[in-house]
Amino acid sequence: MTNSGIQVTEEDITGITADAIVNAANNSLLGGGGVDGAIHRAAGPGLLAECRTLGGCPTGEARITRGYNLLAAWIIHTVGPVWRGGSQEEPELLARCYRSCFSLAREHGIRTIAFPAISTGVYGYPKKEAARIAVREARQALAENGQLATILFACFNSDTRRAYDKALTEP
Ligand code: APR
Repeated sequence: MTNSGIQVTEEDITGITADAIVNAANNSLLGGGGVDGAIHRAAGPGLLAECRTLGGCPTGEARITRGYNLLAAWIIHTVGPVWRGGSQEEPELLARCYRSCFSLAREHGIRTIAFPAISTGVYGYPKKEAARIAVREARQALAENGQLATILFACFNSDTRRAYDKALTEP
């Protein structure tokens, strides 16, 4: 098990310089609260205009747009599962979010990518389990994709930061 290429930080994802930052969006892709709201505010109206052309996004899938006023060149929007107790395929859908983002990253030659803790806010996914899935998929992506250099988990509170730090100590 290796964590090289994975970083955890506690900061606002909209201030991060990476090739791509990931947005925890909803199925409409037309903005919302949480990190979705922060990204749309920081990126500016051009982002919403482009999102309107995408026709939404099913849970577990991802769509890519320009970064507009963000430092990142790209924004990858993914829609995580709402936590309903864990027996409605939530783990599989969350894992699929990460894989969908990584496959768009590969297609666009993205070398550095920052993620929020998808689904762990409004969508209520338990932080520990979500962090385990995120770290597992990140390790897999780094092993499979030689052009991917850095995956950064941008935590927005200390509970989330602790969940990721712990997940990184596990095999
Ligand atoms: N930078 C980094 N992380 C952030 C930021 C930010 N600026 N703002 C919030 N977060 C964190 C939250 O603290 C949480 O840990 O992002 C994580 C995901 O929380 P949400 O943004 O609530 O996303 P999610 O749980 O996936 O719910 C998605 O919320 O905002 C709406 O439109 C969105 O309907 C969708 C739903």
